[in-house]
Amino acid sequence: MSVFVAFEGGDGCGKSTQARRVASARDALFTFEPGDSLMGADLRRWVLDAATPMSPVTEALLMLTDRSHHVRTLIEPALEAGRSVVSDRFAASSLAYQGYGRGVDLEELRAATDLAVGTCWPDLTVLLDISLEVAVERRALDHRDRFESADAAFHERVRHGYLAMAAAEPSRWFVVDASLDVEQVARLVDERLDELDWS
Ligand code: TYD
Repeated sequence: MSVFVAFEGGDGCGKSTQARRVASARDALFTFEPGDSLMGADLRRWVLDAATPMSPVTEALLMLTDRSHHVRTLIEPALEAGRSVVSDRFAASSLAYQGYGRGVDLEELRAATDLAVGTCWPDLTVLLDISLEVAVERRALDHRDRFESADAAFHERVRHGYLAMAAAEPSRWFVVDASLDVEQVARLVDERLDELDWS
């Protein structure tokens, strides 16, 4: 059965490393949001550009446009062809960043996210949870996009949002302490992913 797993977490949590590693170890399609399509690359440029002010709702709708296109052109076709998919960020990013972080109404955002995603929800979302202090130490300070340049309170709200979502649906989420070293994180992630049917 094909499996759909999403990796989530704050900036600097190390999820991209884990997502790429898992995809290659399990012969799954690696993909990411925002921006893993031709149109998505353009959307990504706008939505991350710190020099282009936009409202939180506009930001959310751009992310959802990217997601809707990503689901229809990449994720669903792969799953339908029997290939597993590992995505570096997915729907929970919008709820955490634009909902909890920016204050877009959560119920409205959930409804809009349902519209963008349809039935294509991950079987499991892995949250690499990290404190702000550790994330800041790890984060590159040279290029700062719209989110990296947001203040600490924003990133605290994002973290709280992720943990609240994970606590509300424990069977669909797996939370890992991402301050552990990379091998320990990998081992915990692999143990949980082994429970899914990747055959
Ligand atoms: P990216 O360079 O991919 O960073 P990261 O390695 O942290 O994933 O930038 C993606 C940024 O976009 C990241 O700061 C989170 C943000 N984002 C949202 O705010 N909402 C979303 O729905 C998605 C997919 C990402």
